[in-house]
Order: sequence, then structure tokens, then C-alpha cells
Amino acid sequence: MTVTEPVPETIAASDVPLLEVVDLHVGFRTDAGTVNAVNGLNYKVDGGETLAILGESGSGKSVNAQAVMGIIDSPPGFIPKGEVLYRGTDLLKLPDDERRRIRGNEIAMVFQDALTALNPVFNVGWQIGEMFRQHKGMSKKKATAKAVELMDRVGIPGAADRVHAYPHELSGGMRQRIMIAMAIALDPDVLIADEPTTALDVTVQAQIMDLLAELQADTGMGLILITHDLGVVAEVADRVVVMYAGREVEKAPIDELFAAPRHPYTEGLMQSIPRPDQVTRRLDPIRGAPPDLLRIPPGCAFHPRCPYAKDRCRTETPALRTISTDPLRSTACHFAEELYS
Ligand SMILES: Nc1ncnc2c1ncn2[C@@H]1O[C@H](COP(=O)(O)OP(=O)(O)O)[C@@H](O)[C@H]1O
Ligand code: SF4
Ligand SMILES: [Mg+2]
Repeated sequence: MTVTEPVPETIAASDVPLLEVVDLHVGFRTDAGTVNAVNGLNYKVDGGETLAILGESGSGKSVNAQAVMGIIDSPPGFIPKGEVLYRGTDLLKLPDDERRRIRGNEIAMVFQDALTALNPVFNVGWQIGEMFRQHKGMSKKKATAKAVELMDRVGIPGAADRVHAYPHELSGGMRQRIMIAMAIALDPDVLIADEPTTALDVTVQAQIMDLLAELQADTGMGLILITHDLGVVAEVADRVVVMYAGREVEKAPIDELFAAPRHPYTEGLMQSIPRPDQVTRRLDPIRGAPPDLLRIPPGCAFHPRCPYAKDRCRTETPALRTISTDPLRSTACHFAEELYS
């Protein structure tokens, strides 16, 4: 193609990320004050890619996912700033009915605890079938047949017999497969899996992660995997956003992150998993607890727990920035160069 030819629309369209979150902020007004749960988050995910969002409990990971899905309770929740761009359209500006159409059809979510997310009084086939009855206007019979097909696809043995089972009659792993079946029912382009394996034992965890990876390979969907577990990230992610106190503190392709952290918090997280291939400087886990998001420490929010903190860290909030030695990744630490050169 010569430079004078117009760029075909399909090529131009593919330059737009499938999902892009830009400077997202989410707060909750409570009697005790404002909980600043998400404080400026930026990431993208394209088809076929897995982005992991990693952080300790209470760092704003789920609130971020709820904002992307458009299911923040408001009040008390509010989004003072930010964009959630799906194929270039800001979902935060769409009317409710448009938003509802995108939810489930284009962007779907798997929740951590399948037992509370499923309705105990309906059988699982009915609950999967609901996706088809509601969104596609299918008959009961057709929707049940689709439910069996999907249960089969997510690896539930004897799907035709189990389609009438109630959630409590299935194991935790099977229930999570049901949740995944519901999430992929309408062939979403983006799947957000919020700690999908936390409630499961280790063997079942691995099976569920394999299933998600397999479905992603089949469908080409973008996967956002939310987790506190660095081990899970290592297995499946292409890129990682590390979150602390509602902020992004490090972003990197997975191999780079594992090769060497560039933020003291990531370094601390890494020390919590066995690394036979790397000698780390200290063997202590991160001291203390993550901050209460009602009272985020000033400056670098990590400073009360950071072994390298200096005066500047207590007053000046480090911006996320690329570092000259490593342009593929970015970090929010004033002293990244001197700590990790
Ligand atoms: N409806 C709500 N009202 C008030 N605070 C909330 C609400 N939902 C979440 N939060 C607060 O937002 C913060 C981040 O929560 P969350 O995103 O669930 O953390 P994570 O998923 O990283 O464990 C927590 O401090 C939590 O208490
Ligand atoms: S900015 Fe300071 S407190 Fe924050 S991570 Fe870096 S050294 Fe630690
Ligand atoms: Mg959560």
C-alpha cells in the first residue's frame, strides 16, 4: 500500500483498544467520610490478551471492576473523574439502557464467590438459560438446551443430568464453572474475572484458570484477571497492573515484572512467593496492613510500610512514570532508579 491510499476502516478501528480505562476515580460517601477506593487508574486490554490487576485485599480492585461493569451502587458510590472506553465509546456517558445491553453482551464478569452470586432457589440450568431468555428472547426449551451446551463447554460432566441441579448440590469448582458459563453465554468481548479461584482449593484453582485460558484462546476475548495472588498472575497474565490504595504503582509485561520488580511494594509481594531462581535482598514479608481508604497516607501511600521511605515520600505523591532504563514498564516510586538499577 502506498502512503497516499486511505487507511481502510478496519485497520483504523483496530488501533482503538478493545477496553481502555483512563484516569478512573471512584469514591463512596459514608458517615465517616469519603472512601477513595480508586484514585486514578489507567489500563487497556485487547482481544486475546490477559491483563492482571494485582493487589492486596482492600486496594480497590473490585470497585474498579464494578465501575467498568457499571454496577457501582450510587449513592453511596460516585465516579468524579475518568473514562471507561469500550471500542472508543465512553461507557460512563451512555444512557442506562445502552449500558445494560453492553453488560453481559460485550463485557461480562465472573465473581469471586459463586455461592452468593448464584440464586439458591433456581436450578443452574434455569439461571444460565435466563441469559438467553432475557437477552435473546429464546423459548424455555431452547434456552435449556443452550444451558446444557454451555455446561458441557465449561467442563461439567453429565451436563444434561446436572442442568436441573441447584447450586448447593454442586461443588465449589462446579459452581464456579456455572458462573463462567453464564458469563460467556453471550460471547462477550471482554471478561472480567474477579478473584475467580479464591474460594477454591489449589487443584480446582488450576483447573478453572486452565478453563479461562482455553475459553480465551477459543473466543479471542480480552481477559482482565483480578487477583491478590502473584502465583495466579505468573501462570496466565501477559501484563500486570499492581494496585496499592486505589492507585497503580507498577505496570509491566509479566516477564519483566518477574525478572525484577521496580517498586518496593511489588518487591514485597514477590517475597511472599518462593523464587528458587532469584535471591532477594530481604526475606521479610511486607510489614503492616494496607491503609484504610478513608485515610490514605499523604505522599506515597506505601510510605508507612516501605523499608526505603525517606522524607520526600511522606509529602510528595510519586506519579507513575516510565523509567529510562526500562521503557516497557512504569513505576510510581521516587527512588526507582537508585533502588533498582
Ligand atoms: N458500597 C460501598 N460503600 C462504602 N465503601 C465501599 C463500598 N464498596 C467498596 N467500598 C470500599 O472500597 C474499598 C476498596 O474495596 P474493593 O475494591 O472491594 O477492594 P479489593 O477488591 O481490592 O479487595 C474498601 O475500602 C471498601 O470498604
Ligand atoms: S516513593 Fe518512597 S515510600 Fe513510596 S515506594 Fe518509593 S521509596 Fe517507598
Ligand atoms: Mg475484591
